[in-house]
This record gives sequence, structure tokens and C-alpha cells, in this order.
Amino acid sequence: MPNIEQLRIIFRYISYWLNAIDEHSLQPPFAYRLYTSVIKRKEQYPIFEDIEKSRKELLADQREISFSELGAGSKVNPRKKRQIKDIARNSLTPAKFSELLFRLVAHFKPHIILELGTSLGINTLYLAKVRKEVKVITFEGCPETAAISQELFQKHSSENIEVITGDISATLPPFINQVEKVDFVYFDANHRLEPTLNYFNICLSKAHTNSIFIFDDIHWSREMEEAWKQIKENPKVTMTMDLFNSGLVFFDPDLKKQHYTLMF
Ligand SMILES: C[S@@+](CC[C@H](N)C(=O)[O-])C[C@H]1O[C@@H](n2cnc3c(N)ncnc32)[C@H](O)[C@@H]1O
Repeated sequence: MPNIEQLRIIFRYISYWLNAIDEHSLQPPFAYRLYTSVIKRKEQYPIFEDIEKSRKELLADQREISFSELGAGSKVNPRKKRQIKDIARNSLTPAKFSELLFRLVAHFKPHIILELGTSLGINTLYLAKVRKEVKVITFEGCPETAAISQELFQKHSSENIEVITGDISATLPPFINQVEKVDFVYFDANHRLEPTLNYFNICLSKAHTNSIFIFDDIHWSREMEEAWKQIKENPKVTMTMDLFNSGLVFFDPDLKKQHYTLMF
């Protein structure tokens, strides 16, 4: 029997599904092109197979680590000692979304990518493997999880990834202070209202016309729903795209302020 929170998500999904549009109802050229040539694109790259092999290994990895819980946490397994396979099962996004991250990086060609919430590093690899020249800075609060992700990056010879360990509320501000701009930010750490808005505002201070922000789990909880609502309302935000599990945010003032709910 689903609990109230599970019912809320089911209801939310039905409402998404009823409202989501596809390319046939999408008129503006930027949104149409992005949707048809990036979001809905399905082609596979050889690197996907390598990364998915590692995902499978993590999903079978019985090693146990001490997990330091900093975020809103797993709704499924909030214990302290956790097996890597359980972290992989509960924290990693489906491959379909990982592939979208890859295509977005390939399309927008950011120089610097921030990932808030590394976990085991699967999506970090998708972000970093597009081009060697791209620099990925990934933030993780749990030192033992960060250590597992670093094993993975070494195994995949990904020298363009830097892991910053510690609570993002302490590590992000000094990092942002010393960069000129942020091109691409993937928010997937503390899924609470206040930290999400805090990270958003910190990154927003260095966003530019062509920056893109991606938020994971925008309908995961009431707090994330509220965070997503406030992000959309921010005057610097122009176009947004709701893909249900994630939301894309754009700042280009030439784009009309418009919020699309899109089939993905
Ligand atoms: C959902 S997982 C990230 C998954 C990863 N982005 C992926 O898709 O492969 C969230 C991660 O954020 C980390 N996290 C949560 N709150 C944090 C905080 N305040 N500071 C640093 N890391 C945090 C957790 O330890 C966890 O590993």
C-alpha cells in the first residue's frame, strides 16, 4: 500500500504525463532544436558501454563503507554503514538521464562543469568523457563515497575531474568566489528547499547568458517542488524545461520567459 508521499509522486507523475508536450507542440526555434536534436536524441556512443559496465560493477559491489549523511538522504535506506551496491541502487540516475547529460555537454560545449553531489561518480564520468578539455569539478560530502568515486575516475583515466570533499555549503562559496563564471551546473546533492536555493543563488552569481543549470529530482519531495517553483520565478531565469525527473534552466534574455513540460 503506497504511503502519502508515494501517492503524491504518483499523482504528480500523472499530472506531468497529461501536461507534457512533444516537438509537435513546441514552436520556438531554440526550444524545438534543443528538444529534437539533444533531449530526444537516442544515439549511443562507445564510451556509454564502458561507463555502464562500471555501473553494473557498482551495483554488485558488496564492500561496506561508512556513509556520512549530509543531504535530505535516501528515503529507502538511511543506515550509516552501507554497501556500495545499495548506494548505487538508490543514488544513481537511470542511464537514460546520464546519456542526456553527455549530449547536453556535447551540444553546449561548456568549459567548466560543476556537479553538486558526486556519489559514486557515474554521472561525473558521463560529464567528463565528452571532451578531455572540459574541466569537471564535483562536490561530495561523504569522504568514503568520494574515495570510491576517485577509484572509478582513475580506472577510466579521467584526469579532467577534480573532487572537492566536504559540505557543499562550506566548499561551494570559496570555489565560486575564485572563478570568473560557471557554464554548466548539475545540482544533485542536498534535496532540501533551503540548501537547493542556496546553491542555486551561489552559482547564479557567476552564471552568464549561455549558462545552463540542471536540477535533479525536481518533484521528489514537496521541498523540491517548492525549490523548482522559486527557481522558475527568479527574474534572471528565462526558459525552463521540466522533464519530470530533472529540470533544465536557461538565462539567455533573448529567450522568452517560458516554462515547458516536455515528454522525455
Ligand atoms: C543523489 S546522490 C548524487 C548522484 C550523482 N550525481 C549521480 O547521478 O551519479 C547525492 C549525493 O550528494 C551528497 N550530498 C548531499 N548533501 C550534501 C552536502 N550538503 N554536501 C556535500 N555532498 C552532499 C550525498 O552524499 C550523495 O552522495
